[in-house]
Amino acid sequence: MSETVTRRGAVFYGEEGVAGFTHRAFTKSMGFDDEDLARPVIGICNTFSELNNCHQNFRELAAAVKRGVWQAGGFPLEFPTISLGEIFLSPSSMIQRNLAAMDTEEMIRAQPLDAVVLLASCDKTTPAALMGAISADVPAIMLSGGPMLDGHFRGQTLGACTDCRRMTAEHAAGVLDDETYRDVESYVARSAGHCMVMGTASTMNSLVEALGMGLPGNAAIPAVDSRRMRLAEAVGRRVVSLAKEDLRPSQILTPEAFENALTLLSALGGSTNAIVHLAAIAGRAGVELPLSKLDEISRRTPVLANLKPIGTYQMEALFYAGGIPALMNELLPLLHGSAITVTGKTIEENVRGAVIDDPDVIRSRTSPVRDEGGLAVLTGNLAPEGAIIKHAAASPGLMQHRGRAVVFSGLEDLRSRINDDDLDVEPSDVLVLQNVGPVGGPGMPEVGNFPLPKKILQTGVRDMIRISDARMSGTAYGTIVLHVAPEAAMGGALALVQDGDEIELDVPNRTLTLHVDEAELERRRRRWSPPAPYYTRGYGKLFLDQVESAPRGCDFGFLRGSDPVKVGIQAKF
Ligand code: FES
Repeated sequence: MSETVTRRGAVFYGEEGVAGFTHRAFTKSMGFDDEDLARPVIGICNTFSELNNCHQNFRELAAAVKRGVWQAGGFPLEFPTISLGEIFLSPSSMIQRNLAAMDTEEMIRAQPLDAVVLLASCDKTTPAALMGAISADVPAIMLSGGPMLDGHFRGQTLGACTDCRRMTAEHAAGVLDDETYRDVESYVARSAGHCMVMGTASTMNSLVEALGMGLPGNAAIPAVDSRRMRLAEAVGRRVVSLAKEDLRPSQILTPEAFENALTLLSALGGSTNAIVHLAAIAGRAGVELPLSKLDEISRRTPVLANLKPIGTYQMEALFYAGGIPALMNELLPLLHGSAITVTGKTIEENVRGAVIDDPDVIRSRTSPVRDEGGLAVLTGNLAPEGAIIKHAAASPGLMQHRGRAVVFSGLEDLRSRINDDDLDVEPSDVLVLQNVGPVGGPGMPEVGNFPLPKKILQTGVRDMIRISDARMSGTAYGTIVLHVAPEAAMGGALALVQDGDEIELDVPNRTLTLHVDEAELERRRRRWSPPAPYYTRGYGKLFLDQVESAPRGCDFGFLRGSDPVKVGIQAKF
C-alpha cells in the first residue's frame, strides 16, 4: 500500500470506541479474524439473479474472484446489487439502468471498500455498474460473465437473438411452420452467458477492454469455458494491487479512452445502444462525447469483426480467433495506445503481439468487412439534435431514399393497425413511430426495429425505412433510424409528422429531412400537446422528471459527474 493512500477498510476496522468495536465484532461474527480485517477490503459487486438468465454463472465467478483476492492478500466481501435481466423487465430495462447505477454507486460509497470488482454482463448491467463505480471513483475492475455458446439447429448456427427475429419474420411470412418455429426456442440460447452475437451486451463488454476497465480477454471467453474462471481469479489477484496503487476510474477514463471505445465500437459494427451508454458513462467521467465524434471516428474506422448481425460469426468464433486483444492489436494505429488501463499498463502494452488466429473472423485493415464503421449520425429538420442509423445492418438500396410517411402515434396504435389489411402502405413508404423516446416510451424501448406490415412481408419484402425516437436491440438489423432527438413526447419535430408527408433519408450525406415547410410545422406545433405521463409516482416519476435526451445518454442530470468517496470516521457513537 502506498504511503499516501489511506485505506477505507483500515479506517473502518481501526476506529476507536464503540464504532470500531462493532465493526470488528460483527465482521468476526461471519468467521473472519484480525488477520483478515487487516487486509485491503475488496467488494465483489454481484448482479446474480434468477431473473437474469445471462448471469447464471455469477456465483461461480464470484467464488473464483474471491480465490484470487485471498491469494493476493486481500479480504473479499461479496454484496448484491440490482440485476437487470433484459428480457424479464418491462416496459424497458433502460428505466432501471440509472436505478442500478445509483444502487452500485451508493453501496460502494457507503461500505468500507478499498476497491471493487464489478460483475455484470447483460445489456444494461455493464453500463450501470460502470456509471456507479465512476461516480464513486474507487479502484474498480469490470468482470463480464461471458457470452453464451453458439446455438445450433439442423446444421445452422443460431444467434441470440438475431435469429429469433429472423425466424419470427420467416414464421410471420409463412415460410417457417409452427412446429419448427417452436422447436428453435430450445436451441437458440443453449448456455449461461449473455447474447452471443455482437449485440449490446457483447458490444459493451468489448468496450470495457477498450476503455481500459477490464483485463484483456474479458469480452469473448465463453461464459462456460474454464478460462473465464481463471480470468476471474486473475481479476481477484489484480484488484488487490489496484487498491494498493489507488488507480481510479478518473485516471483511466480520459477523453482518449472514450475515443478508443468509439474506435472499437466502429470496428466491431457494434450496437447502437452503446452510443447511449457511452454518452452516459462519459458524463459520469466528466468527458464531453458529442455525436459528431462518433460519426468522425466511424467514417475513418473499418469494420474488422465479421460478426452477426452485420457479418457471419458470433462471439465464440471471435474468442477462438484471438478475441478483442487481437482485434485491438490490428487496430492499434487508430487507437490511443498510451491510454492507461486497470492492468497498470497501457492499451498498447496489453494488446501488442496478440495474434489473429482466424483472419476471416477478425479481418485485417487491408481486408475489412467494410471500409468504414457501421454507424452514422444523421441530422436535419426531423432530428436537429441527431439520430442514429446502423447502416452496416441496413439495406444498401435504401441509403438514399425519399418516401411517403405512414405514421403511428405510439406502440398501441402500431399494434392495432400495422397488420390491418386496409392500412395504406407501400414498400417504398417510410414507417414512422412516435412517442417511444426516453420520456415517451418511457425508457426508449427496443422497438425501433418494429415489424413490417404482414401484407408487405407476404410480398417477399423484408425491409423498409423505419424512423423513431426508440432504440433497437443490438442484435437487430434493417434500415432503421433511431434515437431521433428531440423526442416526440418533448415536442420534437418527430411529433409533427403526418401521414403522407415526404421524408428523405440520405446516409452518405448524413441527413434526415422532413419535406414540410416551416410555416406548416409551426401551425402543427401550436396544436400539439404532450402525451399523458406513463408514471405519476415513485421511481418512474423521478425517471420521467430527470431523464436526459438520448445524445446525453439518458442519465439523470443530477447524477452526471463524480464525487469521490471520502475516507473518514463514521458518524456513529
Ligand atoms: Fe442478456 Fe441478451 S438477454 S444480453
